[in-house]
Amino acid sequence: MKYSGPRTYPLLRTPSNSAVVIRFSGMENLTRRRFGKTVAGAAAAAFASASLPRIAFAQTPAANLLQFPANFLWGCATASYQVEGAVNEDGRGPSVWDTFSHTRGKTFQGDTGDVADDSYHLYKEDVRLLKNLGVTGYRFSISWSRIFPKGTGQPNEKGLAYYQSVVDELLKNNIAPYITLFHWDLPQALPGGWQSRDTAKAFADYAGYVSKHLSDRVSHFFTTNEFVCFTDLSYKNGQFAPGLKLHAVEVNQIRHHGILAHGLAVQAIRANARTGTQIGLAENATVYVPVIESREHIEAARRATREGNAPFLTAVMEGKYTDGYLEREGANAPKVEAGDMKIIGTPLDFVGLNVYTPEYVRADGSKAGFAIEQRQSSHPRMASSWLYIGPEVIYWAVRNVSDVWKPKELYITENGCSADDVIRADGHIEDTDRVMYLRNHLTHLHRAASEGYPIKGYFLWSLMDNFEWADGYSKRFGIHYVDFKTQKRTPKLSAEWYREVIARNAVE
Ligand code: GCO
Repeated sequence: MKYSGPRTYPLLRTPSNSAVVIRFSGMENLTRRRFGKTVAGAAAAAFASASLPRIAFAQTPAANLLQFPANFLWGCATASYQVEGAVNEDGRGPSVWDTFSHTRGKTFQGDTGDVADDSYHLYKEDVRLLKNLGVTGYRFSISWSRIFPKGTGQPNEKGLAYYQSVVDELLKNNIAPYITLFHWDLPQALPGGWQSRDTAKAFADYAGYVSKHLSDRVSHFFTTNEFVCFTDLSYKNGQFAPGLKLHAVEVNQIRHHGILAHGLAVQAIRANARTGTQIGLAENATVYVPVIESREHIEAARRATREGNAPFLTAVMEGKYTDGYLEREGANAPKVEAGDMKIIGTPLDFVGLNVYTPEYVRADGSKAGFAIEQRQSSHPRMASSWLYIGPEVIYWAVRNVSDVWKPKELYITENGCSADDVIRADGHIEDTDRVMYLRNHLTHLHRAASEGYPIKGYFLWSLMDNFEWADGYSKRFGIHYVDFKTQKRTPKLSAEWYREVIARNAVE
């Protein structure tokens, strides 16, 4: 089943909320665009064959490069269930994604994470790829059910040992490990999953245990990755594990358990980890881009930022639900126990933002003060149906979150795209479309940095092609191509390009 639902919390989508499909004709008529391509192709062939003097191309002058701050962290990101494989090895217990991916019809062609990129065995190869890129950080997640096979109770020493080995391999190569504690692979054995408030407590115990044993070598922990994906997409739309379609009142309570788990984990890490350990989260906040950069529309974007993220990032950053959210949900609003919101609002050291695609907003005379624009069918997308392109989104992600909540530090914890990668006869993968996407997003990220926003680093999603959830292996997000039959990793053009960005600490 192709996954095509909205990736962000659809609170403020238009009533239709219909996914707009761009239709591509199978026939490529000879048009101005195609004619131009034909002429350009002929000229290139002529140039290659003629014995013209080779032109020595000078490097782009440094003055023309968009330089990032000194010590800016460049990294890549992955997640345990998407890359590790070895799902039955060394004591790992099943997760909800093991169950879900093995349930007929839930993933593209029945794809599972049973083997994935086999990173459990090939992590040294992965570190070599990172080293070749020149990154200084690697964001990866820990499989909760490798550490606690049943989610709680007796820890599995082999599970912890594996992650200690990964951390040590990274440090040996001067790459800082940035660990995500929960990237959706919830232990199957936890009764009720996120429907149960006990799961929030179990998550805190797990977070405290891992941070106690790894914070001697790991300085940064993300509690959770993308609340909406393990709450709404998993328990409302049924598109992600465990694949349930519950009523609003239950979903709102599940959302509450998710952010409560985050808050309890922050406190558990503070209590168990080495002093000075930095704690944050990785969130795909809905990012609202003002249709015009004028005061009224920028203010509308800020209002939408609070309301559009009310169940998640706003609640975490403010320690309360917005009046608008509680009003809209009415009787379906979550039941909040004494102290919950204070726990949820426990201060963070940094905020991680997963940024892919924009929503556009304008000021209007409504009570909310803003309206969300419906995209036109011609709005360009990358190779995933939800991945609309709007590079300015990364600037507004940083600016809106900074202006509304003034976090001490921000990281882009994910940015990247799917593309229909093709291996050419010469073995190259010339993903010029992915380079275009990345170059334009980094250009807008540079704007945020140059305006003094506290953006400290960027983790490209992803180091390599991997298991793309319900889309299985049909969507490739990596800058390294993976042949899943041989596990051969091949750098794409985008990997070469990213290495150059890192070497220059600048984007051209
Ligand atoms: C997410 C997840 C990743 C995805 C990536 C591409 O943001 O959904 O963190 O696991 O694979 O974003 O969809």
